[in-house]
Amino acid sequence: MTDPLSRWRAHADTAVLLDGFHALKHALRFGAQVPVAVTTDREAALALAGELAGDVRGTLDALLTEVSPEAYASLVPRPHPTGVAALAVRPSREDNLRALARTPRTAPVVVLDNPRNLGNAGAVIRLAAGFGVTGVVTTGTLDPWHPTVLRGGAGLHFATAVERLGVDELPAGPLFALDPEGEDIRGTALPDDAVLAFGSERTGLSPQLRARADHLLRLPMRPQVSSYNLATSVAMTLYHWSAAQGAHRVP
Ligand SMILES: C[S@@+](CC[C@H](N)C(=O)[O-])C[C@H]1O[C@@H](n2cnc3c(N)ncnc32)[C@H](O)[C@@H]1O
Repeated sequence: MTDPLSRWRAHADTAVLLDGFHALKHALRFGAQVPVAVTTDREAALALAGELAGDVRGTLDALLTEVSPEAYASLVPRPHPTGVAALAVRPSREDNLRALARTPRTAPVVVLDNPRNLGNAGAVIRLAAGFGVTGVVTTGTLDPWHPTVLRGGAGLHFATAVERLGVDELPAGPLFALDPEGEDIRGTALPDDAVLAFGSERTGLSPQLRARADHLLRLPMRPQVSSYNLATSVAMTLYHWSAAQGAHRVP
């Protein structure tokens, strides 16, 4: 089956959409299996690869098939400025659970406790990839592989283990829950095997997560401010972890 549209249709129900050049580039860098990739302008996409992603240019050259703008538009919910789209195989739950359970852990797991905002979840996955964390676990009903989360994650779901679990299934390790009522985070060095939990945008940490927490930590904030945005809270906390490990830990 060489026709890219037939290949696309064969994988569309089970694979996830990589929307745009940068998502495809990131996914390939982190070992995603990509059965089909299309572009409306092969020459432009390969020129972009030459400029920004020499490490995966050869792979893109072998993968990308040019299709008409009409065919491309029929495959994606809305056209991306780079005119590139691909499908990637979603890692199995078993593989993710294995990665999350592996010990000794060299970098924390981030837990989003019942997040509601798909954009926040994507931004957190991008942060997690940047800091090289072990995984991002969500509790509750939000699917961390939802197309909008994938778009926000810029193809970086493949750089970390992204899975939905119950509070009673969280990976082992000391659980540090972030909450404006906790102890000042600046007095605590976060260990590499930490499980770092963050509450829902609307209601904060759930009673179940709170009950499981070993430590409650707060980020510095002026008294009249109620809280920070979820993704920025994760960013500050991961930076705090990385700063204590020394510059050599995060590239
Ligand atoms: C938008 S806040 C939730 C606000 C929510 N109304 C509440 O009652 O907590 C989302 C999450 O970000 C984290 N967060 C925000 N500001 C924080 C702060 N100053 N210290 C620690 N965590 C914070 C917490 O994990 C919080 O549950």
